Parts: sequence; structure tokens; C-alpha cells
Amino acid sequence: MTRVLRATAAELEAALRSLRAGELVAFPTETVYGLGADAGNPAAVRRIFEVKGRPAHHPVIVHLPGAGRLREWAREVPQGALLLAERFWPGPLTLVLPRAPNVSDVVTGGQDTVALRVPSHPVAQQLLAAFQGGIAAPSANRYGRLSPTRAQHVREELGAEVKVILDGGDCQIGLESTIVAFQGRRARLLRPGAITAAQVRRVVGELAVGADEVSPRVPGSTAAHYAPATPLTVVPAAQIDSQAEALSAGGRVAVLAWRAPLAPHPDAVWIDAGRDARQYGHDLYDNLRTLDKSGCRRILVQDVPEGEAWMAVRDRLRRAAAGAGLEDSPEADAT
Ligand code: TXA
Ligand code: MG
Repeated sequence: MTRVLRATAAELEAALRSLRAGELVAFPTETVYGLGADAGNPAAVRRIFEVKGRPAHHPVIVHLPGAGRLREWAREVPQGALLLAERFWPGPLTLVLPRAPNVSDVVTGGQDTVALRVPSHPVAQQLLAAFQGGIAAPSANRYGRLSPTRAQHVREELGAEVKVILDGGDCQIGLESTIVAFQGRRARLLRPGAITAAQVRRVVGELAVGADEVSPRVPGSTAAHYAPATPLTVVPAAQIDSQAEALSAGGRVAVLAWRAPLAPHPDAVWIDAGRDARQYGHDLYDNLRTLDKSGCRRILVQDVPEGEAWMAVRDRLRRAAAGAGLEDSPEADAT
């Protein structure tokens, strides 16, 4: 059972004071924890990039208290976007829309679009309702690393730099929001998440999938992202036992699977994450953190089933495989 915590009045007050002073606040959302700054204060938003170690041209999502604020940030809101906001906000959906003239280049990475989202987590709602302005926030992890799904993950990674970390418990979803961009009236899925392509299609009709050459840039869609430090390989489902066996000859091996091993592997740290896509996604980053810390030289992931329910998980695993172990490599940070 996910326990959702609420912020006390004193915690909320401290967070608001920080935001108003141009400082950063980490806060929970239903997807992952965010590293927030006043979206109307370019110097404060710049500080996010410093702390994350993220290249400055990457755009960030602006979090709003409600869809009523959309027009303060987007100069055009196509009918499809409005319908999606009505249907899924507050919730794990981000809309990329033409930006309003007042939105800073630091927020948009200099692009003509802005990403907007109304999160449903009660603590995020408390904070946004009290702050009133937009809060710019990427996931509260160092650039290219796993997104945090508990306050403890943020403390471990950014505790030295971020004074206020609101603890809202374990994130209910555990994977980043679904991102849908609009070019005119045409909708395009830029990042899969808990809200599936089919759910979006039911509202907007047609939906293109994946980036094309005219899509806005989504650095989260570069290969080397959401990665543990330990090299990670996705292996065909039926080969997970034999590959774990073969690799463990050279030392301990970490395994993330959706079932128990066929026979005990004495040299494997084996996590059975189960066959339920939602639960698997919820636990994914936490499981990868655990395996990353297990002292194994390699993480093997049993490939997940086909089908839309697994789309967001498959997407994050592919990126984790591309980015894992590249911490010190310049290519990992090239985008
Ligand atoms: O669930 C989430 O979306 C979490 C929580 C904290 O809200 N946030 C999150 O932020 O995942 P971040 O920065 O780690 O990923 C946001 C993605 C990035 O890939 C970024 O490039 C993309 O959104 N994005 C932001 N503004 C954009 C824009 N104007 N056009 C295209 N993509 C944009
Ligand atoms: Mg991120």
C-alpha cells in the first residue's frame, strides 16, 4: 500500500519561503519527485541546471495548480489539448504547447513551446495552490541518473544542495509523466507514461508516436537517460536464467526479472518484480537503485512482455541500457 504523506503547515511555509527567495525545493508528485524553482524567476530556474548538472538548453516542465492557469503559459491551447487537460488533470500527463510571451527562455530551452502539467499528488497540490505561480521542475536526480520515487532518494543524491525536501511518501506511479506535444491540432506522443497512447487517442482521435524531425526536443528521449551506474543489459525473456548462470561464473550478477528463477542461482541477486505492468513500473527505479548498490558488476534485465501496458517500462529499460555505466563517458552527457 502506498502511504501518502501531507506537508505540515511549517514545512509548507519553509518551501514557500525558499521558492520566493529563488531557492530550490524538492517535492513529491504522483510520478516522481521534482526539483522545483519559481518558473517566473530565470535565475532560480538556472540553479536547477547547476544542481542537476544538466545542460542549460534542456527545457523543463512547468507545474501549475490547475488547468485554469493554462493560458498564462500557453498562447494557444488547441481543442485536443483542452480535452486532454479536462480528462487527465490533475494527473500524470504533460502537454507541450506554444509558449506565452512571458515564459522565460531558461524554462523552454529557447524553444517556442512550453511543457505544462498539473500534478495530482496532494503535497504538490498543496504547494502549487499556496504558491500560485508556476513551478518549473525536472525530476530531482542528477542528470542522466534514475528518477527518485522516495524522498530518501532525493536526500541521498541532492541533500547537500537542496535545503527543503518535502516528503510525500512513495510516488504512486513511479514513472515520469506521459508527454503529448501539439503542433497545430496534431498530437504526438513524445514520452510514454502511465496514461497510455490508447487513452490519449480516445480523447484526441489521431496520435502520432515518437519524435520526428520537427518535434520539439525531449532530452529525456535521448538514449542515455534514467540509468544506473552499473552496466545494464536487457536479455530475451527465455534466456534470463542461462545468461545469469553464465555471467555469474565471473562474479555476482544482479537480475531484474518478472518471475522467480527456474533454479536457485547462488551468485545472483535476483529481484522478481512480478507480471503486473503497473506494479513493475511503480517499483522499477527503486529496484534498479537496489541492484545498482548490490555490488554486482552487471545488471541483467529480463525483457518485458509486448503490449501497450508495458510501453512506458520498456521505454525506460531501453534508455537505462543505453545509459548505464556511462557515468564518466562524455557521450552519456553529449545531449
Ligand atoms: O513526471 C514528470 O514529468 C516529472 C515530474 C517531476 O513532473 N518531471 C520530469 O521532468 O520527468 P524531466 O525534466 O526529468 O523530464 C521532462 C521532459 C524532458 O525530457 C524535457 O526535455 C521535456 O520534458 N520537455 C520539457 N519542455 C519541453 C518542450 N518545450 N518541448 C519538448 N519537450 C519538453
Ligand atoms: Mg528526468
